[in-house]
Amino acid sequence: MILVTGGAGFIGANFVLDWLGESDEPIVNLDKLTYAGNLANLGQLKGDARHIFVHGDIGDRALVEKALATHRPRAIVNFAAESHVDRSIHGPAPFIETNVVGTFSLLEQTRSFYTALAPSEQASFRFVHVSTDEVYGSLGPDDRPFSEATAYAPNSPYAASKAAADHLARAYVHTYGLPVLTTNCSNNYGPRQFPEKLIPLMIHNALAGKALPVYGDGSNVRDWLYVGDHCAAIRTVLERGRPGETYNIGGKAERTNVDVVRTLCRILTELKPGRDYASQITFVRDRPGHDRRYAIDAGKITRELAWKPRESFESGLARTVRWYLENTTWLAGVTSGDYLKWTELNYPVEATS
Ligand code: NAD
Ligand code: DAU
Repeated sequence: MILVTGGAGFIGANFVLDWLGESDEPIVNLDKLTYAGNLANLGQLKGDARHIFVHGDIGDRALVEKALATHRPRAIVNFAAESHVDRSIHGPAPFIETNVVGTFSLLEQTRSFYTALAPSEQASFRFVHVSTDEVYGSLGPDDRPFSEATAYAPNSPYAASKAAADHLARAYVHTYGLPVLTTNCSNNYGPRQFPEKLIPLMIHNALAGKALPVYGDGSNVRDWLYVGDHCAAIRTVLERGRPGETYNIGGKAERTNVDVVRTLCRILTELKPGRDYASQITFVRDRPGHDRRYAIDAGKITRELAWKPRESFESGLARTVRWYLENTTWLAGVTSGDYLKWTELNYPVEATS
């Protein structure tokens, strides 16, 4: 079996569902269930013996030690993290705690487990550390996309905490020979994403008749990838990647934020007419230190491991909007409670124009 951490969050849950859709290999899912972790994401696995949920923190040494000793996974995929840039600006402490100290602790427990394995088990053991393109910093309009050789230059507390974790992962390869593979992926979107991130927030607000808050002038660029394509890339890296290597993953779909929001409005108009969604677009004050542009060169994973995205941005976005329209109960469930308090903190003044 394999062990994933953070498998109740957005990408982790999609990974667990896709995994069990494709194979019968059981999956142990260790998740702390922070505000971003939601077992409703995995509701369809109720009663499925192939999914074993362990409630806990990657930083809890005793719990991780016990989970490894009990389940003896052949691989670990580490998704667990605090993942929202704006939250890291308002309060960086949990980002350092989970992304840096938690990852360190998980690597330590994994090292101890790995060291005690038989040589044949060691040869096939893998630890995939899931990271982000934000570790590379920000690009100018004419800069080449980030490659695996791009120097790290993280700009937000979130990006810095992920960069620190990546450095620890690298050190565990070089110092201890732990077979870690690191993936650095661009912006994901798709079903089950918590509506604090751009695309689900805009879908939620558009349907609720609320403002669509675009930061600054809306011309910041992100490189979008459908979550199912990211999950397929991680499975590919797990099965065929070379230990010690890093792989950039991206959708070759650079869009400005305002373009993304306008495209969403067009899709919503088609699928749920009756409202002038685009008139809800509102430009609000910018994110402090807002990275201008991200773009990924995914040439290495395509050349070496034969992975490439299946969804275009337009097909993936239409699929995503349809999912949110069909899952209004899910959306209502996650938009109560903590999420509402977050909205008041992050968007105190709605419009700048
Ligand atoms: P998410 O915030 O939706 O989910 C994170 C999950 O981790 C939640 O289920 C949460 O409960 C769990 N978690 C948090 N702290 C934990 C801890 N200490 N111990 C155990 N579980 C804990 O995040 P996501 O968007 O699904 O991102 C998953 C991973 O992918 C993260 O490492 C993130 O940095 C990386 N990533 C995300 C994107 C993206 O666009 N969302 C892109 C590239 C990389
Ligand atoms: O690049 C990969 C990263 O993508 C991941 O590592 C992060 O976990 C993930 O959250 C994401 O980070 P971003 O900061 O790029 O994503 P977010 O959805 O928060 O914002 C996308 C862009 O949209 C960004 O330029 C900020 C802008 N934005 C965001 C929100 C929430 C707005 O204009 N308005 C908003 O309300």
